[in-house]
Amino acid sequence: MSDARDEDDDLESPRLYAKSQEDLLRARSHNPAPTTVPPPIAALAGNIGERHVLVFIGLPLRGKRTIALRLKRYLRFFHGARCRAFDVAYAGHDARCRNETLVSNLRDFLRGNDRGEEYARVREKYGVDDVDANAKHVDSGRVAVVYSSNASATFRETWSGTSKERRRAILKDMEALERELAEEHATRGGHARRYKVKTIFIETCLTKEELTEEVLSQRVARDARNGAVSEDAIEETKEGWRRRIDEYRKLYVTLQDDGSEDDLSYIKLYNYGERVQTNRMRAYLPQRIVQFLTSTHPTAHKIYLCRHGESEYNVTGRLGGNSCVTSDNGVAFAEILGRFAMEKICGMRRRADADEHERDVDPNTRWEETEHTTNARLWTSSLLRTIQTAAHIEHPTTNDGEWEQMAPRVYRNIDEIFAGDCEGMTPEEIAENHPRAAYLRSMDKIGYRYPRGESYFDLISRLEPCIQEMESYTEPVLVVSHQAILRLIFAYLTGVDREHAPGMNTFSQNVVYEITLDASCEDLITEDIDAFPAFVVAHDFRQDVKVLAKITDPAERKAFIRALDLDRANA
Ligand code: F6P
Repeated sequence: MSDARDEDDDLESPRLYAKSQEDLLRARSHNPAPTTVPPPIAALAGNIGERHVLVFIGLPLRGKRTIALRLKRYLRFFHGARCRAFDVAYAGHDARCRNETLVSNLRDFLRGNDRGEEYARVREKYGVDDVDANAKHVDSGRVAVVYSSNASATFRETWSGTSKERRRAILKDMEALERELAEEHATRGGHARRYKVKTIFIETCLTKEELTEEVLSQRVARDARNGAVSEDAIEETKEGWRRRIDEYRKLYVTLQDDGSEDDLSYIKLYNYGERVQTNRMRAYLPQRIVQFLTSTHPTAHKIYLCRHGESEYNVTGRLGGNSCVTSDNGVAFAEILGRFAMEKICGMRRRADADEHERDVDPNTRWEETEHTTNARLWTSSLLRTIQTAAHIEHPTTNDGEWEQMAPRVYRNIDEIFAGDCEGMTPEEIAENHPRAAYLRSMDKIGYRYPRGESYFDLISRLEPCIQEMESYTEPVLVVSHQAILRLIFAYLTGVDREHAPGMNTFSQNVVYEITLDASCEDLITEDIDAFPAFVVAHDFRQDVKVLAKITDPAERKAFIRALDLDRANA
């Protein structure tokens, strides 16, 4: 399903500037020669420019497809690159001419000009010339991500890159394509400079048995869910895969560091980000790719996202600020989250005699491990309302004494959008004091920057390092943050385009969103902003918060929280 969709990805027309800043490009009496393109916004700067072809290679069952599709999502969301995935296994209906079909599909995609209509419009309206546009680096580039979803069936195809000769052949194909595109470009009166097509090989090698087994288990479980493998044939299927991989190993030639492939650009990943070898990977995009691939992995892990409990500003409808969680609703959610974090996320159990130790400083007198216990993490923003929402979460240490559960980590990167001059105002006050703000924001919510404040694009830039860190975890992490930030994290993790993220209404207060990331996610992404993909579970405590908020007796409150059913469905 996703393979067909990947090839059909809608490449929306690129935006060279935030629309809400359009008026800044006009000449005024005080600024008769304005800059032709507004100041670069990091996430929009698009200084990728060239065409890149990323070719994933490796033995079957190395998680290549998952990593390839995740990388594609990352480059689109955080760098605005025009990306498309090409699956070697599905390149054309006729297996005999797969390679030709693939090259022809790549040609069509790489030929596209991101300075197309939108650029022409800006050039005409504001007189931006090529030199100026190049100086501003407004082309976000095109990235083709090539992988095979069936590495055993395509093992002998050129584009599987499974031998030195096949890799040379891919390079030759791409050099020829580069010359062809450059000539074509020149005949259209384009710049004489060459149309660059840079090919990068990405090899995934697994040297740890447990990682291979994890990928194998995920693959067979997926096949079992799709009905391709019956439940009682699972073990036999796994054994068959193991035998086949051993056979392929004899034929497969890994990227060589004996000098014979030193002219190639490549990244060699050992056990995903555990050890990374790079060759000729300088420049903006290659370095971003290396950094991302050092973090990401297809091992199953969970991310829990929730907004802070109701704050004082929420009650009065004010934006931003650093108000506290003091309302009955806000405190109720914080208390429920305390139990949810311990039991559902960490898999700890409240000890039978916990009540007797209610006042003990040591939380280990109240919590004990179970067979489901897992080391878990907690992130909050630096703002009081998220820290207070997480204040009821306890921090027992695991039996080996090595891990403090939910040790609080405070990240400024996940602070709420800073509304600048509009901080602390209600929408009515904004309408009165900044009459153009609401209009400009509704026209371009992602690009609109509050006066002396931030835009969603600014948030995307400051979120990037956190996302990389989150990608690297294998332990569950609970992120207690804010509406705008969580919309972006949620959109990225669930495959929603960044342009749609600021308009998402699906993210509610008093709900904990559980996202399970593994190799099957990419198949379940729907890009529907009004519905969750199947790997998201919404633990909805909205009704419980309302009830708990009205209970005043402390003993009754505790009893209510302890009796709560924490297993919620996506009702
Ligand atoms: O209203 C709560 C809040 O977190 C504000 O502090 C913030 O400005 C706003 O939500 C972000 O949402 P939106 O981008 O829809 O205005």
